[in-house]
Amino acid sequence: MRIVVIGSTGQLGTDLIKTLEDGHEVIGLTHSDIEVSDYDSCLVLKEYKPDVIVNTAAFHKTDQCEEEPLKAFAVNTLGARNVALISKELGATTVFISTDYVFDGTKKEPYTEEDIPAPISTYGISKLAAEHFTHQNPKHYILRIASVFGKAGASGKGGNFVETMINKAKKNEPIMVVDDMWMSPTYTKDAASVLKGILELQLPYGLYHATNKGYCSWYQFAKEIFNITGLNPDLKPTKTDPNYGKAKRPPFSALASTKLSKHNLETRGWKESLRAYLIEKGHISQDSS
Ligand SMILES: NC(=O)c1ccc[n+]([C@@H]2O[C@H](COP(=O)([O-])OP(=O)(O)OC[C@H]3O[C@@H](n4cnc5c(N)ncnc54)[C@H](OP(=O)(O)O)[C@@H]3O)[C@@H](O)[C@H]2O)c1
Repeated sequence: MRIVVIGSTGQLGTDLIKTLEDGHEVIGLTHSDIEVSDYDSCLVLKEYKPDVIVNTAAFHKTDQCEEEPLKAFAVNTLGARNVALISKELGATTVFISTDYVFDGTKKEPYTEEDIPAPISTYGISKLAAEHFTHQNPKHYILRIASVFGKAGASGKGGNFVETMINKAKKNEPIMVVDDMWMSPTYTKDAASVLKGILELQLPYGLYHATNKGYCSWYQFAKEIFNITGLNPDLKPTKTDPNYGKAKRPPFSALASTKLSKHNLETRGWKESLRAYLIEKGHISQDSS
């Protein structure tokens, strides 16, 4: 397949390129190659005559989206619309990367693909609207991921949670992490492998949850980072400050897939992926147990 990846220098984009290059012709487009919110700029996609267009571009600083809703909707929503319309015209498959923030977080068990979204933030609303626009190309996959960590770090957020925790620990800073907000972490390498599998196995078009398996609170996630690395900072659990940030965040946004397992495409558990990431990043050695 000839596959265009938009956002090729991003955290997920970087691993998508590496993973998909094994067996496919991959063209990576950076932000200087394409502005997804601008339809004319998106016409560049036509030059590559792709079979698949993967859109990882997003404005995903959640609090900033509350302050800049026009930008959130321009990049996340209209961007998705532009990509879907051009893919459709080309007869190409659209892949849109979405988020657990399409849910309000009131469910007490992991959300599956069948659950009805009810976003509570501008970011979540803009991504859910983007999912709807993506439907305008019947040949589409929507992959929902969450709490992403990957070797490149999020360019839009300047790193990821794992690196933030390790940096704080190395500086001997006391660390407080919420233990009342639950999510399913996603290792970008694993999400990239899932997408490769979906494309190669030609799974039915539609929506897939593609986080790592299982879920944890942010405190438990931090604890496991230090458990694996052997770092021993002053880590304490805390409760979510209702006045923190401008955006409302779902208190429980764990995701589970009822669809991938039917096609033998299950992801690893989050602890196993975290260990693999820490090895890839050089924080621990391959043979550390
Ligand atoms: N990070 C998370 O925890 C998380 C959680 C759930 C879902 N997601 C979704 O996963 C996807 C990938 O996230 P990520 O962590 O890989 O993000 P990222 O590292 O910030 O990567 C996004 C990429 O898109 C590019 N980009 C941003 N705005 C653009 C625009 N208007 N036009 C064209 N390119 C643009 C960025 O380039 P520049 O940096 O040069 O602008 C960057 O290369 C996003 O759709 C996000 O909504 C992320």
